[in-house]
Amino acid sequence: MASRSCLSIILAAGEGTRMKSALPKVLHKIAGLPMVAHVARAAEAAGGGDLALVIGHGADEMRKAGAKFAPRAEFFVQDKRLGTAHAVLAARAAIAKGYDDVLVMFGDTPLIEAQALVAAREKLSQGAAVAVLGFRTPNPTGYGRLIEANGRLVAIREEKDCSETERQIDFCNSGLMAIDGRHALRLLEAVGNNNAKGEFYLTDIVGIAAAEGLEVLATEASFDNALGINNRAELAEGEAIWQTRRRREAMLAGVTLVAPETVFFAYDTQIAPDAYVEPNVFFGPGVTIEAGAVIHAFSHIEGAHIGPRVEIGPFARLRPGADLAERAKVGNFCEVKNATVEAGAKVSHLAYVGDARVGANANVGAGVITCNYNGFTKSRTDIGRGAFIGSNSSLVAPVRIGDGANVAAGSVITEDVPADALAFGRARQKTLPERGRMLRERLASAKKAAE
Ligand code: UD1
Ligand code: CA
Repeated sequence: MASRSCLSIILAAGEGTRMKSALPKVLHKIAGLPMVAHVARAAEAAGGGDLALVIGHGADEMRKAGAKFAPRAEFFVQDKRLGTAHAVLAARAAIAKGYDDVLVMFGDTPLIEAQALVAAREKLSQGAAVAVLGFRTPNPTGYGRLIEANGRLVAIREEKDCSETERQIDFCNSGLMAIDGRHALRLLEAVGNNNAKGEFYLTDIVGIAAAEGLEVLATEASFDNALGINNRAELAEGEAIWQTRRRREAMLAGVTLVAPETVFFAYDTQIAPDAYVEPNVFFGPGVTIEAGAVIHAFSHIEGAHIGPRVEIGPFARLRPGADLAERAKVGNFCEVKNATVEAGAKVSHLAYVGDARVGANANVGAGVITCNYNGFTKSRTDIGRGAFIGSNSSLVAPVRIGDGANVAAGSVITEDVPADALAFGRARQKTLPERGRMLRERLASAKKAAE
């Protein structure tokens, strides 16, 4: 199939009123990635070739987002929403270039899998003119019905145009279609709008092609593949299906998820075999986890690299730019942002490490804060190898703590500390014998006198 050229067209001009959102529907995210980008990724994984995005509502935002998730895509604007066939024809100039296969997908069907697209394209390579991806559901209300005769597809009928018997059919149109590029423009241009909604239906090309004697087939996929997202409840349903798939994939690849239903991955999470993830962990985009890492419960991680055999949490927060090298440890209630924690270093309790380096085998005590922000600019803290930062110290950046240096607990460090030095950044303790008792007695009698 690699030898067949392909154009992938994603329809995404709709407004999506039922989302009740200022954001175009298909830009709502699943696993941290816009729905339409999931579709584009599936197309790419299926060897979908060139990509055409049909946009309309929220066109500017769509172009901006598309430049990120599909930098090579060509945009086509459908000014008026006159139906799915009309939308495909907005990309007429692309179709006219002449491809072997034309794949049509909907931007609001984010769970479509590459495998289903490949199956439809295979039908074309075997001689079909049109292959439609169908699915079965006990509740087909609202979907176009696939009408077959002798193993061939003869028509797709929209719910509103169905007869009583046709409405009983449970084999439905997912919206995904593969069309032989030689026939695509002719079939699309033959579509009229004589139907209940007065729209130009893409689905009508099935009847047109069948009437011409061309081979038209349906291939069956799971319901997930066809799930169309129209409102926030369905968006959550889509997210749940996506997460279930991803968790299973991770576990089968050798990752332990103690309670998989409580772990949330992002679209691009990379997690190596023998990583161990406790319950209630959230991965935002941009996370890589290496082999043998242990992620304790209730950790929130985004834009971070977690090296081999690193241990984090419980209740750790890793923000973008956190880079933890082999066997590093970031413990409970610690936040790490834009900082490198080198091999074997420990940040064990209640610390904030931002815009910093923590050298190999250094120890950052409980409650240590890198004061990286003065209200206007950010500055860096550099902690040397094997340094020891005593509990509840504030390191006021920019500041450098040398290799092997020791910062006394409770210090406020504003000046660099050389290697192997001991720094106190606090007032010396004064202890006055007996004065505690004297104070207590004076206060007690003063209170009594006042009563
Ligand atoms: C469509 C199919 C139906 C199928 C269902 C699956 C047609 C005629 N019907 O119905 O058989 O079962 O999807 O979910 O194709 N769009 C445009 N421009 C338009 C019209 C639509 O870009 O003028 C886009 C929408 O943004 C959406 C997609 O095409 O992404 C589908 O359109 P929609 O109106 O949701 O079609 P359905 O009525 O759901
Ligand atoms: Ca729809």
